[in-house]
Parts: sequence; C-alpha cells; structure tokens
Amino acid sequence: MYNSSLKILRLLPPELSHTITINFLKYFKVRQKNIEDSILSQHLMGLDFINPIGLAAGFDKNAEVMHSMFSFGFGFLEVGTITPQPQSGNSKPRVFRLSEDKAIINSLGFNNKGIDYGISRIKEFNRNIPIGVNIGKNASTDVKDAFRDYEYCLRKAYSVADYVTLNISSPNTENLRDLQKGEKISSFLHSIKTLHDNLKKVYKKHTPLVVKIAPDVTDEIIFDLSNLVNEYDIDGVICTNTTIDKSHLSNQFKSLQGGLSGKPLYHNSNIILKKMYELTNGQIPLIGVGGISSGRDCYEKIKSGASLVQLYTALVYSGPNLINNMKGDLIDLIKTDGYKNVSEVIGKSV
Ligand code: FNR
Repeated sequence: MYNSSLKILRLLPPELSHTITINFLKYFKVRQKNIEDSILSQHLMGLDFINPIGLAAGFDKNAEVMHSMFSFGFGFLEVGTITPQPQSGNSKPRVFRLSEDKAIINSLGFNNKGIDYGISRIKEFNRNIPIGVNIGKNASTDVKDAFRDYEYCLRKAYSVADYVTLNISSPNTENLRDLQKGEKISSFLHSIKTLHDNLKKVYKKHTPLVVKIAPDVTDEIIFDLSNLVNEYDIDGVICTNTTIDKSHLSNQFKSLQGGLSGKPLYHNSNIILKKMYELTNGQIPLIGVGGISSGRDCYEKIKSGASLVQLYTALVYSGPNLINNMKGDLIDLIKTDGYKNVSEVIGKSV
C-alpha cells in the first residue's frame, strides 16, 4: 500500500505531497507490526529509547502525526521547528526533489502553527517514546533578540517535552546560523541556560537541552561549540542540519536556494559528527543526522560517535517500511560484530 501511495505522491509537487501525507496520517490511524529488540535499547539523557532511530525535525513541524510516526517504528520523534508565533515561512516554491541524488533542497523558513498549538498537540498525545521539541525564532525577530524567542518557547515546552532542541543551524532564516559563532553563541547559551536552571527548580524536573548544529561550520566553530557545550552542561548535540554546500550537484540544482539534505549530506555530516565526538571525548550524547537511508548507514553513524540517529529525506524516497528494515539490518550488524548492545558500538571508528 505504501509503495503505490509513494508512487502517486511523487507525481505531485513536493510540498503538496507532504501536506497530503500529513493530512492523511493525521486522520487515519496507521498500524504496523514493529521489530523491537533489547539490543537496540538505551538509557540516555535520563530517557529510555527502545531503539536509536528517530524522526528528524521538519517532517512533523506541528506535532500532528506523532501516533503514525510511532507506528512506523521510530524510537523517538522530534517535532518542529516551532516558533513563538505562527508564521507562513518563505515564498513558494521552496521544496525541490533531487530524485537521482536521493536528496531534497528546502527553503521553507520555519512555516509552523506556533508554540501554543504544538504544545497542545503534544499534551493530547498518549506518548510511549521520547518526544523532542525543536524550537527557533520568528523571521520578524532580529537575531540580536533571538534569545527572547527561544526563551519564550523553552518556557512553554519545558514541562511537556522530553527534550528541547535549540535549532541555531537552519540556513533558511536570515542570519540564524550566526548564532553558532563567537561571542553570540556564548551569550546566547548563557541566557538560555540561566532560564533552564530556573525552570528545573520550578518544575523539579530536568528536561534535557540539545543544540543542533550545521554541517558548514569551520574547525574553529566546532572547537568553540564543543567547549561551550561542556561549560553550559548541554545534554546533547545534533550533528547536523542541512548544508548550503551544493558544489557536488549538477548545474541545474546548484543555484537553488535552501538547505540540501539526503545522500549528498551523508559524508559531511559524518565528518562533523566525528569531530564533535573527539572534542567532547565521547562524554556527551550526539545525535547523528544527514543522509541516512539504510541500517548500514545507521551503524556507520553510530560508529562515528552517534548515540542516536535521525532521518527525514530517506522517508520521502523509501516510505515508512524503511524504519523496520533498518532496525532489522542494524540488529544483524551489531550481532555479527559480537556486540551485546548498540551502546557498545558508539564511536568505535573514531
Ligand atoms: C528539514 N530539516 C529541519 N531541521 C530543523 O531543525 N528544523 C526544521 O524545521 C527542518 N525542516 C526541514 C524541512 C525539510 C523539507 C527537510 C528535508 C529537512 C533538517 C532535518 O531535520 C535534517 O537535519 C536534515 O534533513 C538531514 O537529515 P536527512 O534528511 O538527510 O535524513
């Protein structure tokens, strides 16, 4: 059923086909038999993960299809990016399929229904796996005041989310990625962390704080980020968001605006992941994202330092059966190499 639906959806423009998919998944309960094996389970950041494969941010921006994503076999879900106020995002067309490259270029610009809507959806969801809330700033907020938007969303999400991701790496919101650099990132993390400490006291609960970084960062930026992550007790780092590097694409796609995801991102995101793993001495959980489309890719990401992985683009090309296939292959790879649990594989090739 999924394969024929995918074929039809692929004939439609990408954003329309995504909207139809979300609406279908929102109103129809999808049930699927899942592979689960304790060899894939881990306890990280104070949370239980039945398997390490998560849905990356951007697919379920408004937390509307969590039940279906759970049915597809994901071990955790990240919803968002959500901003304080609803916004429509950048002008269309803003999503392009690069089918031969198994890639997508998007310049959506955080189109979402706002934090109040997203949080109300999560409250209604009878959750059985960790739900991360990925937060960002509204396009109308100047980058120098960005921390106010993140603080606003953090306050709203703190008691409801299992973890909160600070998305400072989307290429589709003007100057957002500047937040990753120099003085900006340390003052940004300082104010967010001060609020985080206060919320922890108020709610008597620790909601892990995770930072999502870009693949297009210099060694100096990664080095500084790794130090700040330690200094501010950040619970995890997501490596990586989409890339603005389109140099390997054919000419027809090079000039498209936006972030590139999928297969062409795999190698670069792994390099960043490995660097971050080395710089943090394997002490901080890393979530590896970028170009994963098989159990082998998951395995390599985990060997490169990821405790957990996420994907988005491969879901568009392969459909939801992919998750169970990947889990099956991952279990085989772990067993073949003689490990007893996925956690033993983390960082083995670094
Ligand atoms: C994304 N991604 C993304 N990331 C994020 O932090 N917030 C967001 O709102 C979005 N939106 C979004 C839309 C679309 C259409 C795509 C394809 C991607 C990035 C995503 O979470 C992930 O980091 C990258 O896509 C790399 O993973 P894949 O797609 O190669 O598995």
